[in-house]
Amino acid sequence: MKHIIFLGVLGLLLLPAGCGGEEGGRGAAGGDGPRWIVGMSQCNLGEPWREQMNSDIRQAAKAHPELEIRYLGAQNDALKQAAQVREFIAAGMDLIIISPKETDPLTPPVAEAHRKGIPVIVLDRRVAGDEYTCFIGADNRRIGRAAGRWAVRRLGGKGKVVELKGLMTSTPGQDRHRGFREAVAGSGLEVIFEADMEWLEGKARKEMESALARFDRIDLVYGHNDPAAHGAWLAAKASGREKEILFIGIDALAREGRAYVRAGILAASFEYPTGGPEAVAAALKILRGEKVAREITLSSRVFTPENIDRGGDLLEE
Ligand code: FRU
Repeated sequence: MKHIIFLGVLGLLLLPAGCGGEEGGRGAAGGDGPRWIVGMSQCNLGEPWREQMNSDIRQAAKAHPELEIRYLGAQNDALKQAAQVREFIAAGMDLIIISPKETDPLTPPVAEAHRKGIPVIVLDRRVAGDEYTCFIGADNRRIGRAAGRWAVRRLGGKGKVVELKGLMTSTPGQDRHRGFREAVAGSGLEVIFEADMEWLEGKARKEMESALARFDRIDLVYGHNDPAAHGAWLAAKASGREKEILFIGIDALAREGRAYVRAGILAASFEYPTGGPEAVAAALKILRGEKVAREITLSSRVFTPENIDRGGDLLEE
C-alpha cells in the first residue's frame, strides 16, 4: 500500500506539466519555469459547468507564467477526491484550489493541508469548519430565494411545483432548497413532489417520470441546476406534457442554460458563476503574501426569453 501511495505521489511530481492528472496541466511556463505550483482538485469533469470552471481557471492563469496549475478530477467520487487532495499535500503544492463534491468527506483533507501551512481556496461547494484560507462562490440561498419569488410571480401566486434538488450532502443543494422554500412560504405555491437528483440530468429525468405518473397537473419544475430542468423537460416532452409546465434551472452557461432559454425550453435560468477567474486572482495574492478576504461572494443574473438579448438582469435584493 505504502509503495502504491509513494508511486502515486512520485508520478504526480514527475509528470511533465501538460499531462498531469485526468486532463493534463496547461503546459510548462517559459523562462526559468513557474515560481509556484498549484493543485486544482475538481470533483468531476462530467458536467459542462465543471469543464467551464477548469477552462475559466486555465484562461485566467494564461497571463501568469509564474503559476503552474496541475489538475486532478475525481469522477464524482468523494473518497477519490480526498485521496487526491492528500496527493497534492504530499507532492508539496504551494497552494490548493478545491471544488469539493460534498462537505463531510472533503473537510478533513482540506483541514490537513491548511494545518500543514498550504493555503486552500474552496470553490462553489463548502467544507465544514474554518480550516481553509478562502471560500469563493455565489450566494445559493439568495439564488434559491430569487427563483422562488420568480415562480410565485410568474404563476400568479398559485400552482403545483416539482423540486428536483441537487445533492443534499452538498451546500448548494441545501441552500437552493432553503432559499426557494423561504420565498414560496405563505404563497399558494405547493411543492407536490421533491427528489434528490444529485446534480445529474439522467436522475432528474427519471424522477420527473415518477412525478408525471403521479400528478395530472404540474405547473412548474424547479431544478437546482439546468441539467435537472432539462432532464425534467425531456421526460415531460416524452409524455407530451412539456407545454403545460414551466421549467426553471440554475447555472446559465452560454451553451447550456442560456441556450435552453433561447430555445424556449427553460422559462428562466439563474446564473451560477464558476469563480474560476476569482480563484486565480486570489491564489496569486495569497502566494505573493497579500491578504485576501476569507469569503468572496459572486453576483448572479437571471436570464429569461424577455431579457436574454440584453444580457439578463442582476438579481434584486
Ligand atoms: C456541477 C454542478 C452545477 C451546480 C454546481 C453546484 O457539478 O452540479 O450544475 O450549479 O455543481 O455545486
